[in-house]
Amino acid sequence: MSAGGGGDAAFTGSIAEIYETVLVPMIFAEPARALAAVVAAASGADLLETAAGTGALTRELARIGRFDIVATDLNEPMVQAADGRPGVERVRWQVADALELPFPDRSFDVVACQFGAMFFPDKVRGFHESLRVLRPDGMFAFNVWDRIETNPVAMVVTEALCAAAPAEPLHFMRRTPHGYFDADRIRGELTEAGFDRITAEYLEGVSRTTAELAALAFCQGTPLRGEIERHSTLDLDSATTIAHRELAARYGPGEFEAPTRWLQVTARRPA
Ligand SMILES: C[S@@+](CC[C@H](N)C(=O)[O-])C[C@H]1O[C@@H](n2cnc3c(N)ncnc32)[C@H](O)[C@@H]1O
Repeated sequence: MSAGGGGDAAFTGSIAEIYETVLVPMIFAEPARALAAVVAAASGADLLETAAGTGALTRELARIGRFDIVATDLNEPMVQAADGRPGVERVRWQVADALELPFPDRSFDVVACQFGAMFFPDKVRGFHESLRVLRPDGMFAFNVWDRIETNPVAMVVTEALCAAAPAEPLHFMRRTPHGYFDADRIRGELTEAGFDRITAEYLEGVSRTTAELAALAFCQGTPLRGEIERHSTLDLDSATTIAHRELAARYGPGEFEAPTRWLQVTARRPA
């Protein structure tokens, strides 16, 4: 099957490998543990994961041990990078758009989604698709990054690149991964999609990395890479060097720790 996202959802080509090996341990593993802890309390056995990427959350969900997991993502390279890794041997992987899920109504007890909703071009439609495939009383559990100002590594990279090319600023990180964080808006859109019993909690974590790895991860392991490649004055090497230099100026050349913050949400399909 061929499928895939363009623009801000283009987790394609060599992005998948850098994403999995550098970015996941840096910022995605900790929120995955927190989200899996919430899912572990849900009842039922059939679990669908949407926007599963390379499996950061999938591995935590598999560790719970009592779910039959179907893990899906829009972009085939992400699914390919995920499938076959240790810890997810019993997971069924499938390319699927979270806004058009290829599953019958009421076929899952839980839908989980880590850092995917901000990429949905129509949030209410995406939420409604999750509701449609959930059984009555089923749980939808997901998370989204908080605003970029509370995630300083992403902000330093964005500000460095915008300062280097003010006439053609690179706003991917601010616009999309850190562009959907308002708990009131999210509650409203979940309600519009048909959910009730909504909980939303901001959580804080720590990213451990180096300036060199963080520059590589953000500039080459996310769809910011495509934005850089389309840029008229910057290229992948120059942008990564600019981000590296600015991160090293802020945090030093060695290992450092920086805060991360995200919103964790649960909602239920009415019984
Ligand atoms: C930031 S990554 C998160 C991946 C994974 N959940 C994790 O925690 O590492 C966002 C993921 O959303 C996927 N995505 C974007 N739009 C999507 C859509 N409409 N349907 C399904 N997946 C989508 C991308 O392919 C990408 O893998």
